[in-house]
Amino acid sequence: MDIKEKVENILSGMTLLEKIGQLNQAGTTMASALPGFEADVDTWVTQMMDGAITKDEFERRISMLEEDLREDEVACGTLGNFVNLYEDEKIARVQQAAIKRSRQGIPLFIGVDVIRGYRTIFPTPLAMSCSWDIKLVEKMAEVAKKEAIAGGVNWSFGPMLDVAPDARWGRIVESWGEDAYLTGCFGKTIIKKFQEPDEHGEKLLATAKHFAAYGAALGGRDYNSVDMSLQKLFNQYMPPFIEAVDAGVGAVMSAFHDFNGVPCTMDEYLLNDILRERLGFDGFVVSDAEAVKQLVVHGAVADEKEAALKSILAGGDMDMSSMDYIQFLPKLVEKGILDEKIIDRAASRVLTKKLEYGLFDREYQYDPEKISEATLTKENRKAAYEMAVNSAVLLKNDGVLPISEKVKKIVVVGKLAVDKEALMGPWAFTGEKDALIDIVEGLSNACPKGMSIEYIEGFSPVSTDMDNISEVLMQVKDADLVIAVAGENAFMSGEAASKAELKLSGKQEQYLLALAKADAPVVTVLVSGRPLGIRKIKENPGINAVMAAWHLGTEFGNALGDLLFGKRNPSGRLTATWVDTAGQEPFTYNHNNTGKPGGDFKFTSKYLDAPIEPLYPFGYGLSYTQFSYSNVCTDKECYCMNDIAKITVTVENVGDRDGAEVVQLYVRDLSASIVRPVKELKAFSKQFMKAGEAKRVTLEVPIQNLGFYNRKCEYVLETGDFKVFVGHDSCQCLETKIVVTERG
Ligand code: GLC
Repeated sequence: MDIKEKVENILSGMTLLEKIGQLNQAGTTMASALPGFEADVDTWVTQMMDGAITKDEFERRISMLEEDLREDEVACGTLGNFVNLYEDEKIARVQQAAIKRSRQGIPLFIGVDVIRGYRTIFPTPLAMSCSWDIKLVEKMAEVAKKEAIAGGVNWSFGPMLDVAPDARWGRIVESWGEDAYLTGCFGKTIIKKFQEPDEHGEKLLATAKHFAAYGAALGGRDYNSVDMSLQKLFNQYMPPFIEAVDAGVGAVMSAFHDFNGVPCTMDEYLLNDILRERLGFDGFVVSDAEAVKQLVVHGAVADEKEAALKSILAGGDMDMSSMDYIQFLPKLVEKGILDEKIIDRAASRVLTKKLEYGLFDREYQYDPEKISEATLTKENRKAAYEMAVNSAVLLKNDGVLPISEKVKKIVVVGKLAVDKEALMGPWAFTGEKDALIDIVEGLSNACPKGMSIEYIEGFSPVSTDMDNISEVLMQVKDADLVIAVAGENAFMSGEAASKAELKLSGKQEQYLLALAKADAPVVTVLVSGRPLGIRKIKENPGINAVMAAWHLGTEFGNALGDLLFGKRNPSGRLTATWVDTAGQEPFTYNHNNTGKPGGDFKFTSKYLDAPIEPLYPFGYGLSYTQFSYSNVCTDKECYCMNDIAKITVTVENVGDRDGAEVVQLYVRDLSASIVRPVKELKAFSKQFMKAGEAKRVTLEVPIQNLGFYNRKCEYVLETGDFKVFVGHDSCQCLETKIVVTERG
């Protein structure tokens, strides 16, 4: 029997309620067991994420509650899927309830945000994207999949594929940056790795999220409205989802926001016309958390019954956490308002994936030995280390890095240096913060004999005064080098963490500028989920180096220590423009030229009170060596539409250290039926080069990739002249030109 027949067979034996149970996804519930102890988990979550209580305190309070695994709902078939259940034993327990106690014995999808590893935590996606290393991202997916499956997770709510043009949006940290092509490269790599059978035939269902254009939230404010032309949607936000569907992604998560006035959760045009009919998606769509219920708040439906109806009719197959489907759909069918065929359509999609992903073939026994053999192993940590070492971006360096052996005493200042919870960063709930190597530990592991590493707290992202500054300056007085660690804690980026200003929080900037006056050179390490407004730090000669370390994950300290001591050479390149000020956002390298591009002349596109250039451009990053580019050439001058252009350039490592360079290729369509960006990334290649080595690097660009979506949302490729830029980043490039003709 093939899968289709199996699905029909299962469906034919199911009651209406059981079918709708397959469209229902929820988490466990917590209730207070102590008389007089009120459980207010939402408030506690807010307090933890606002820093009012620590995660440990949050977990202490949670531990006082009784958790209901909802096994009875599972047993009667009204709960067919879980969200964010990641304690291994509990997963095994609920699966046993499903296969042993429910009538149909249908196993559960256990969905978890596996977006940067599982138990071994990798850098955040924004950090990983700065590696420009597809192979390392593939390895991350392999490790994450192995650990998640060992723990009983069979569905990842990842990769997140939202293009993020605005650092005010907290979820930029989960994105692969501002470029759709680069995001698509990483997204399809992760989806293929998650979904291909491993050596045991195990697969992890992937989810392309959040559909669609969530990163374009008005004002960079999370969950806010998105309004744009369909051509902009297709040119700037859809490509990663096209790649994801072409890679066979099994699930898509619709986004919270309203898109052009219709909430994505119930937008048939998005979920059916575009996603299924145009892109060819054949998996199932899951809503975001409680998004079905929120349709009432949007003002798009009168009540939750209508929300459930409109959402499933639009193509939202599964309801995450609102419970509206299980509550309202049975009656809507019984009253003849909703055709049971729609339920069968959605249930078939979910059951098809459960069969395709082997859920019916697994044993659901809790096996702690098997789990520990697969998680936080040396190999997994090595993969996380390698990813971390390649993700950090060296923004400024006057030569103070790598740390010289003449340095005898280093003083590390800033609570972030030892705050493991903060260093873990957002979306690391499945990780173990105690397994993380913090910055002081990492520096101690990497520093040569005879060098001392001292730590003083000094300040933190929430410092409110500088009363201790004289004491701090005293404590760094006899240091040979100061390493100041500033930036954001784990909840200052991520979901519901948008910022109107990108300044360093608290008194961090003031502390850094005060330390800049100390005798010793100062290296600033930025721990953050986004680019931050650090112009004064960049321009202050007393700050000798700045390393964007992001949130590097479990191997944070070891990676950073090896980078600062020069055991490894920084190779990260920015995938999000590092703006000067929030007022410039949204700012991306691939902007249109306008008819009056900003310049000295008064009547040009610029600000009276801010520069029009970013602090650091897309693609930027320093190394401990230098690379030169010369002799760029193309294999033809004229190309026809089905050609592949080959652009070759000489890259030379002209410094005295081995290092990796990300050779980047951009294109500009000089004249087209709609104006095209001044640059668009079309190819890249990460090249490891020995000191003094030179090589001819060839990048290939299928001419078909030079097309765009026109005003009718048709993909068109027009003939004409194109500029080609090849270089170190989106500003430092050599230029050449090609022509696209019908005949070539
Ligand atoms: C959140 C996020 C989504 C995540 C889901 C489950 O609200 O928007 O990305 O997958 O809930 O955690």
